[in-house]
Amino acid sequence: MLKEKIEKLKKEKNAVILAHFYQKDEVQDIADYVGDSLALSKIAANTDADIIVFCGVYFMAETAKILSPKKKVLLPKLNSLCRMAQMIDYEELKMYKENNPDTMIVTYVNTRANIKSLSDIIVTSSNAKKIVKNFPNKKIMYVPDKNLGTYLRHITKQDISVWPGFCYIHDLLTKKEIEKMRLDHPKAEVLVHPEAPLKVLLDADFVGSTKNILDYATNSKAKEFIIGTDKGLIHALEKQNPDKSFYLLSKGLNCLNMKRITLEDVYESLAAEKFEIDVDSKIQKKAIIALNRMMELS
Ligand code: 13P
Ligand code: SF4
Repeated sequence: MLKEKIEKLKKEKNAVILAHFYQKDEVQDIADYVGDSLALSKIAANTDADIIVFCGVYFMAETAKILSPKKKVLLPKLNSLCRMAQMIDYEELKMYKENNPDTMIVTYVNTRANIKSLSDIIVTSSNAKKIVKNFPNKKIMYVPDKNLGTYLRHITKQDISVWPGFCYIHDLLTKKEIEKMRLDHPKAEVLVHPEAPLKVLLDADFVGSTKNILDYATNSKAKEFIIGTDKGLIHALEKQNPDKSFYLLSKGLNCLNMKRITLEDVYESLAAEKFEIDVDSKIQKKAIIALNRMMELS
């Protein structure tokens, strides 16, 4: 019933619904596109729709608005906030830049627009390695995820410093959990998101973004997988691979901020055109430069 009402409104208003893989299953099922941060940003930048309903966290809807400033971008629940994105402060980064004018600021997409506006280039978990490798001789400050930054430094051997931010669900993963799960499921491959600590990543069979993990599991000959990222991804993994089994690496892999949006919220958001995301035009003009650099290199 609610689904039909959403479909009808969507057509009437020429809206598109985008959902991240960590959203509730029923929200993923109503979306026109389900994807990782990079794929959803690309769709937001190129859509013909008049309204983008973004089922994700605030920085994702804000990124869509930066890339498509003339479109109406709606976030069905305003308190859907990525905790990592709140771990970096505008004034602190500005001061860092003033004190380190030769350092390139490489910024994870999981940040607010004002942080992007201070950045040289944006990256996501699926293109970070490729993008950083374009700047082999640069001194880099990677913000705000210390884990992904440390992993990038490890695999590229480049001069990369890291900001002390982290994702509260991935940062808690341990090698011990992997060891235990491997004992319980000896044939399973371990697939982990790069927001986990380096020790955990070095123990995994594969490290990648949500979409990379989905593609890897789909193409692998293995039949069982231990998943080291938010439980929301299990829905897409099972849908796409009904003959394979997926086990969550840790019970704690549940980003509550990503689970706030319900189907009712999606309906109300479309009906009342709320909550509209706005980005200051000066910030937008600077942030889009860093985002477009990422698009060119990914
Ligand atoms: P992806 O870009 O891999 O989907 O990651 C987004 C995110 O928030 C991971 O915690
Ligand atoms: Fe942010 Fe972590 Fe949630 Fe991803 S899983 S949205 S990084 S808090």
